[in-house]
Amino acid sequence: MRHACAMADGSWYDGDIDDVIVSEEQIKEKISDLAKQVADDYRAVESVLLVGVLKGAFMFMADFAREMGRHGHPVELEFMAVSSYGQRATSSGVVRILKDLDRDIAGRHVIVVEDIVDSGLTLSWLLRYLQSRSAASVEVVALLRKPDAIQVKVPVKYVGFDIPNEFVVGYGLDYAERYRELPYVGVLKSSVYVRA
Ligand code: PRP
Repeated sequence: MRHACAMADGSWYDGDIDDVIVSEEQIKEKISDLAKQVADDYRAVESVLLVGVLKGAFMFMADFAREMGRHGHPVELEFMAVSSYGQRATSSGVVRILKDLDRDIAGRHVIVVEDIVDSGLTLSWLLRYLQSRSAASVEVVALLRKPDAIQVKVPVKYVGFDIPNEFVVGYGLDYAERYRELPYVGVLKSSVYVRA
C-alpha cells in the first residue's frame, strides 16, 4: 500500500510528506467500490441521507455522493460539524455540536460519511445522537480507519482502508487546518510539526 512520494509534480506540499500511504488512484477505485456496495445494499431504499462530518469529510462526501449517483442511487446530503471537549486523549467521547442537521431525520435511512475513525469517540457519540433522532437506520462509511488507535468499538459497516497509527494528512485531513486539499493521504514529516 505504501508508495514513494511523487515529487515530480512539484506541488508545494509534496516535500512535507514522508510517504503517500493511499494514492489518488487507490482512493478513486475504493470510493467506486464502496458506493457500489452501498447502492446494492440500499436498493430497496428510495433515497439515502448522507450525513457528512465536517470538516474532514468534505472531499470524501463529494466524491462518494457522485459515485452513488453513478451507481444509480439517489442521495440527499446533510452536514454536521462537531468538536471534542478538551483534550481528545482524555476525552469521555462527549462532543459539542458546532453545526447541527438542518432537518428532521426521523424515519430516514442515514449513512454517516467520515474521513477517518481514529479513537472512535466522535463516531460513537454521533451514532447515539442520530439514533436518538429516530432515524430508521444508521450506518457508517469511513474512508480510513486506524485499528491501533481505537478506544471505543464502533460498528463501521463500510471501510475504505485500514491504515497504520501515524500522523496522516490529505484528502480532507489536516494539520493546523492545512493539507486538506491534498489529493492523496500521506504521512506528515515530523519536522513539520516539531518546528511549529
Ligand atoms: C477528525 C475526523 C473525525 C474525527 C475522528 O475530525 O474528521 O471526525 O477526528 O477522530 P476520533 O475517532 O478520535 O473521534 P477533527 O476533530 O480533527 O475535525 P476536522 O474534521 O474539522 O478536522
